[in-house]
Amino acid sequence: MPKTRLAILIGPKGRGTNLKAIARACQDGRLEAEVAVVISPAGDSPAAQWVREQGLTLELVSPKAEAYGGGLLAVLRAHSAEWVCLAGYTRLLPTEVLNAYAGRILNIHPALLPKYGGKGMYGSHVHEAVVAAGETESGCSVHLVTERYDEGPIIFQVRCPVEPGDTPETLAARVLELEKQAYWQAIAQAIKRPHSA
Ligand code: GRF
Repeated sequence: MPKTRLAILIGPKGRGTNLKAIARACQDGRLEAEVAVVISPAGDSPAAQWVREQGLTLELVSPKAEAYGGGLLAVLRAHSAEWVCLAGYTRLLPTEVLNAYAGRILNIHPALLPKYGGKGMYGSHVHEAVVAAGETESGCSVHLVTERYDEGPIIFQVRCPVEPGDTPETLAARVLELEKQAYWQAIAQAIKRPHSA
């Protein structure tokens, strides 16, 4: 059976933790899929460099370009991408892409949505807010992407404790470990049994 073709969208400063975890799950057969293309706004991030080293396909698409939406969609189609996985991509997606891939775009968020999501809730801001609120539990969520930040249906969550004495940094590290396991499992479920956005 042909493998499901994934496009992974990363951010301009991508670290690549989630990207690597997904790519490894594809390579060792835990995930019946392949990374058809990695799309990045910048070519000099650690994640983009790793993509080149691995011999994976990297496409640079600038969100500042005119006709960004059509351009991004053309790249996705050129690589016959079937699913789009956001991994550190923090912008809203253009309408063209949301419409063409409705129900087939996923994102991972480093908190237990619907709490601690929305515009501006990314990176350390999320963990700072969780610690400041005195939460005893956090985790990560994989959800379908819609036209609003972090509001699409949640399809997968993994939880972890917030320990007494945690700082945003220690919590971020614990959640990132969970993300390595969560995203590929969520993708595996989603591609078998698509949800609607
Ligand atoms: C992760 O924390 C993810 O939850 C969020 O962006 C971060 C990306 O990190 N959406 P990395 O590039 O995968 O290391």
